[in-house]
Amino acid sequence: MAQVAEQIARPEDGPPPLNRGDRDGNPRGQSLLALLREDLHAHDGNPLEQGFWAVAVHRFGNWRMGRPKVIRAPLTLVYRLLNKWVEWTCGISLPYTVRLGRRVRIWHHGGMILHARSIGDDVQIRQNTTFGLADPRRPGEIPTIGDRVDIGCGACIIGGVSVGPGAKIGANAVVLADVPEGATAVGVPARIVRRGGGGADL
Ligand SMILES: CC(C)(COP(=O)(O)OP(=O)(O)OC[C@H]1O[C@@H](n2cnc3c(N)ncnc32)[C@H](O)[C@@H]1OP(=O)(O)O)[C@@H](O)C(=O)NCCC(=O)NCCS
Repeated sequence: MAQVAEQIARPEDGPPPLNRGDRDGNPRGQSLLALLREDLHAHDGNPLEQGFWAVAVHRFGNWRMGRPKVIRAPLTLVYRLLNKWVEWTCGISLPYTVRLGRRVRIWHHGGMILHARSIGDDVQIRQNTTFGLADPRRPGEIPTIGDRVDIGCGACIIGGVSVGPGAKIGANAVVLADVPEGATAVGVPARIVRRGGGGADL
């Protein structure tokens, strides 16, 4: 296939403020139970999937922020213990401050640091994926993952980049720049090997 490597310019603007986590950031219009049912369905209906546990604890961490302050304190203790338990036993770090869309599927588990600004609906994430800062001197520059993004195992998506809806990230790619909607990015550093809209090559 014909291929042209491409790096896409970083935005010049500073990053918007990060989510402070001071309210329930679960998707609107769904009860916690309805969300959990949907999340379970997205994980093949298997309650033993570690990815489901991580998403469920994330949902609970957000839900508690919508409860009255008087019961929030014990719920926060429960959330922190569960969150640590998921990190230790599943190797999945997914803070409740990440805006998490619906039906996100975490395949397998282990070595997953998912510190994104937001993760869209119907995103697929595989083992050993990292979302986070590219440079600790630039706090707040963490990625935004669009709807229906499909992320191969071992991918690192770092810095304040945006991965457009329906994009694919190849296994072990290191994404340092925006990926357009529907594009496929592979390699280190990641380059676009396929554009969206019917899969036309560059
Ligand atoms: C990127 C991916 C989605 C394939 O996308 P695609 O649009 O079908 O791309 P192609 O297979 O046609 O490959 C296009 C080019 O990218 C290269 N490529 C594909 N995947 C790559 C990767 N992960 N790293 C580096 N290069 C890769 C191919 O060699 C090909 O290069 P060429 O044109 O020079 O031969 C797929 O290869 C991938 O990495 N999927 C992740 C799957 C995964 O994580 N599985 C684990 C399950 S547990």
